[in-house]
Amino acid sequence: MDTNIRKVRKDYLKQELLRSDLPRDPMELLEGWMADAASTDASDYNAMCLSTANKSGSPSSRIVLLRSISEMGIRFFTNYRSQKGRDIEENPNVSVNFFWKEWERQIRIEGAAVKCSSEISDSYFASRPRGSQEGAWTSMQSAANVSPLIEERVKSTVAQFKETDVIPRPDFWGGYDIKIESIEFWQGRPSRLHNRWKYLRDDSSATQWSIDRLDP
Ligand SMILES: Cc1cc2nc3c(=O)[nH]c(=O)nc-3n(C[C@H](O)[C@H](O)[C@H](O)COP(=O)(O)O)c2cc1C
Repeated sequence: MDTNIRKVRKDYLKQELLRSDLPRDPMELLEGWMADAASTDASDYNAMCLSTANKSGSPSSRIVLLRSISEMGIRFFTNYRSQKGRDIEENPNVSVNFFWKEWERQIRIEGAAVKCSSEISDSYFASRPRGSQEGAWTSMQSAANVSPLIEERVKSTVAQFKETDVIPRPDFWGGYDIKIESIEFWQGRPSRLHNRWKYLRDDSSATQWSIDRLDP
């Protein structure tokens, strides 16, 4: 196969991230970088790679969409019975990675995932398009070789809710908040001399962070 993988090489030149750029609260920087990413690519800029590990430590990664940032942490929604849901049940420690090519930036997050309140999940579920709500009811997310096929099964769901104005949230579907324990901001720099700053939550306080400069 003709591939350029060995040869492709790019110098990162666009931005720098200095200590003087760092706010005391990393959530501010996270929000700033999200806004920058949104300004150049309005779709999927909130896509993040979520890694989980089951109780034996076997890791697994997939993309999910970031739906909110708050002092609670970062939030996403999924099927609680999916592989990621089962992993989190066994081991709440997760990691998250964002990469924004246009900005030559990466963010790494580590923390523990906890289910959102049912009120939060209900409210988000209610905001989804009806088709997605029907899909959530139908999909046995991550189950293999389910029969009949989902395209058939979703017809039964549509029929089931035909007379229902407001489709309720299934109890197996909802949000998780990842409480951030550490968050690293990576800004690509020339000659691989990247800027890396890692915030670590101070145990004694929910709002205090220490900051380490990491070698690239
Ligand atoms: C751009 C993108 C966004 C996605 N967003 C979500 C999401 O917010 N929630 C979700 O459960 N799956 C989402 N998925 C699908 C997941 O990557 C994954 O296939 C699914 O959640 C099953 O993962 P699991 O079997 O590891 O639990 C998204 C996939 C892509 C490519």
